[in-house]
Amino acid sequence: MSDSGKQIVVAVTGASGAIYTLRLVQTLLCAGCQLHVVISNAAKQVFQEELGVTPPQHDQGASGWLSMFQQIQQQSDVAWNFREAGTVDAGQLGSLRQYGLADFRASAASGSARIAGMVVCPCSMGTLSSIACGASSNLIHRAADVQLKERRPLILVPRETPLGLIQLENMVRLSQAGATILPAMPGFYHGPQGMGDLVDFIVARICDHLDVPHQLSRRWGQSTSDVSGPDAT
Ligand SMILES: Cc1cc2nc3c(=O)[nH]c(=O)nc-3n(C[C@H](O)[C@H](O)[C@H](O)COP(=O)(O)O)c2cc1C
Repeated sequence: MSDSGKQIVVAVTGASGAIYTLRLVQTLLCAGCQLHVVISNAAKQVFQEELGVTPPQHDQGASGWLSMFQQIQQQSDVAWNFREAGTVDAGQLGSLRQYGLADFRASAASGSARIAGMVVCPCSMGTLSSIACGASSNLIHRAADVQLKERRPLILVPRETPLGLIQLENMVRLSQAGATILPAMPGFYHGPQGMGDLVDFIVARICDHLDVPHQLSRRWGQSTSDVSGPDAT
């Protein structure tokens, strides 16, 4: 897989779906991306609830996230069964820097930073609402606001069901402002073999919208033998 070297903001908020974040970060690092990661306080609670861990600390960098993904795969009670596929040399791996919610001096808070794309995964209804009204009250909201004003990719991965009128209207507003609404809503037509394939369905679509190469999930019309992607070792 080629090294895209893109700078991408990965914001993690308190909606269900912490496993999406872990797989997304692992995939983007394997594609050589330079990640700016911001985690909300509620997201930390969801990590604990769903995966039994707290997200990696600021000083742990890319290796902390990659080890956590390996740990969850190997030790979790859930049979995620992510596809194993190939290896990536350490030299090809991307980098990761983590920022605090109140760190408005982070480069992602300014339009002058060369941020290729931002994804909020998963995106809570609370954060969706804050971005929709331009609150900019924490680094996640501010970085998203910057992406919209700079007319750069902003991908929101909401998870809630059913959806109320206010939530739907916020999504319409954000879509009209240029964001991509990519709900955590996996399809079943690709013949998933387990939970990992369902997670990868969503992560693959996020990577497509960030224009980051991947081979996570079979594309419609592609043969099953074509699906393989790198894992960091
Ligand atoms: C275990 C758990 C699961 C949650 N799942 C969702 C969810 O799927 N969608 C959602 O919008 N909020 C969910 N919430 C509620 C949000 O975390 C809460 O509204 C929070 O204020 C969001 O803050 P944030 O946007 O700063 O992360 C969940 C909370 C917990 C503790």
